[in-house]
Amino acid sequence: MKLDQILPGRIGYGSAPLGNMFRSVPDDEATATLNAAWDHGIRFYDTAPLYGAGLSEIRLGGLLSLKPRDSFVLSTKVGRVILDEVESGSRDLGEKGNLFEHGRPNTIVHEWTAEATERSIEGSLERLGVDRLDILWVHDIAQDFHGDVWLQKFEEARTGAFRVLSRLRDEGVIRAWGLGVNRTEPIELTLALDEPRPDGFLLAGRYTLLDHEHALQRLLPMAEEQGVGMVVGGPYSSGVLAGGTHFEYQDAPPEIVEKVRRLKQLTDEYGVSIKAAALQFSLAHPVSTAVVAGATKPSRIAEDLAALDEEIPAGFWTALRASGLVSPLAPLPGGA
Ligand SMILES: NC(=O)c1ccc[n+]([C@@H]2O[C@H](COP(=O)([O-])OP(=O)(O)OC[C@H]3O[C@@H](n4cnc5c(N)ncnc54)[C@H](OP(=O)(O)O)[C@@H]3O)[C@@H](O)[C@H]2O)c1
Repeated sequence: MKLDQILPGRIGYGSAPLGNMFRSVPDDEATATLNAAWDHGIRFYDTAPLYGAGLSEIRLGGLLSLKPRDSFVLSTKVGRVILDEVESGSRDLGEKGNLFEHGRPNTIVHEWTAEATERSIEGSLERLGVDRLDILWVHDIAQDFHGDVWLQKFEEARTGAFRVLSRLRDEGVIRAWGLGVNRTEPIELTLALDEPRPDGFLLAGRYTLLDHEHALQRLLPMAEEQGVGMVVGGPYSSGVLAGGTHFEYQDAPPEIVEKVRRLKQLTDEYGVSIKAAALQFSLAHPVSTAVVAGATKPSRIAEDLAALDEEIPAGFWTALRASGLVSPLAPLPGGA
């Protein structure tokens, strides 16, 4: 089913930070953030077994398992099976290093086979305390986690996870499936396959004010032609666009800090919040169906919703276009 037929509105809550990404988030802070999302009317939630080795799913389940199942849309991911036992060695998360070092200590098995996909789904249902999942993303079969062997992982998923998820979608067990990745290439490869056909994809950090050129070249024209929608993950490039210090889940390097400074100068000039510019930019592409923004503080939620609805003067987009800070190929709101 197409994403725009499933997703309730244009913004969802991304719960990666609730897996104790970057820091140990106290339970009451996590609960308050989730309650704020619900109370502000957010009804699309994204999570994954990887996020804190199940912690994000457990916390999200604390909210969603108490709500009527038809009142929200839930996506999680396959590719990591979380075991009960504690990890003995160090974790290898590729470029992402110790991203979830404050999460649960459980062993994470990285596997995209059919059998692991089924086990992954069972684990997610249990941790989330729900009886069904709406969307499943095949998680991180990409270069940032696997380096040069990513194509082997892709092949494992193509012959495993893709087939299981297609079958579950065809049987009506789930409503949609696709890839959830930080790179464009695996999605391009998937869209080039005759079978199986994904319903959409979650692309994180690659369609933001700071990074969109690559997606515009091949992926988005392909997706548009095929009528496949995109959920934009990490619309603040993991924080730096929202006033935080992270870019790509690391401390932002000087050239990114400088680019954000220039963007901020422009938003200030037009009295626009940079969060509004970031979200509305990510949503302006016709393939964008929704954004999922992360947060660990309840106050962020109202900010995000205000940013989505903020009236941005057309002059801002014209000036942004003229500044050269965004690609000439990027569609801007109002057709600037
Ligand atoms: N491979 C994949 O499938 C994949 C990869 C990445 C992301 N995703 C999805 O996309 C979601 C969103 O991505 P993300 O959470 O990584 O990044 P993001 O949405 O780009 O940024 C979230 C960060 O912005 C910070 N922030 C928001 N408002 C702020 C403010 N006013 N001042 C300072 N900082 C502010 C938040 O900080 P606080 O924590 O302090 O609130 C949070 O850490 C994820 O949760 C996940 O669901 C999927």
